[in-house]
Amino acid sequence: MKDYEALSKKHFDGQAAEYDQRDTYYYSRNGKISCRDIAGQIKNLTYESLLDVGCGTGFLIELLIKQRPARYYGADLSDEMIRVAKEKQIDGAEFVVSSADKLPYPDETFDIVTCSQSFHHYPYPEKAMLEAKRVLKSGGLYILSDTGIGGVGGWIDNHILFKLMKSGDCHTTNRKGIEKMMEAAGFTVTDSRQVKGMIYTVTGKKN
Ligand SMILES: C[S@@+](CC[C@H](N)C(=O)[O-])C[C@H]1O[C@@H](n2cnc3c(N)ncnc32)[C@H](O)[C@@H]1O
Repeated sequence: MKDYEALSKKHFDGQAAEYDQRDTYYYSRNGKISCRDIAGQIKNLTYESLLDVGCGTGFLIELLIKQRPARYYGADLSDEMIRVAKEKQIDGAEFVVSSADKLPYPDETFDIVTCSQSFHHYPYPEKAMLEAKRVLKSGGLYILSDTGIGGVGGWIDNHILFKLMKSGDCHTTNRKGIEKMMEAAGFTVTDSRQVKGMIYTVTGKKN
């Protein structure tokens, strides 16, 4: 298999300095749509700790901290995305360089784990999902927002297009695909919505 993590790291290390400012499809446009959707969904929830996996430059955590004081953590593969996040000096937030497959936190640490526009870069998505579940407290929420399609288009992306690309994109699926994956991982799907075009958000509760 191609080294998708190495490709993602290189791609986002290269984008980090401009990621927030360049509001196009190839930079932060979809991320901002997903982050705003996630922030809206959890606005009225009570929680003490939240981890954002694939946090990039910390855009989601910046939004959330304005909504609710809590302990916020961000993890991302790209040193440069994390450097930009840390430079923002967001009060009450800690950022760490880490793969989604191997998070540096004990079991049952967080009330909420989020993942915005990052999941389609994970070479072992089931493993990353189980890792999110491991660090979630019982009854905690996993909120995953991504861009993707199923059917023939998805097959072409997964088997042809992504194999040619160098940005570390490695698998796409639609909302129903994520729902099934969450159920197989032992979550109960509590919400699932198409946000805009191919962008969706699915929420699973850890039983
Ligand atoms: C499109 S950006 C999204 C960033 C941010 N979540 C947002 O919505 O703006 C994708 C992020 O996923 C990170 N990423 C890719 N593969 C990863 C992996 N295996 N583990 C952790 N982070 C990863 C990238 O470094 C990048 O920062």
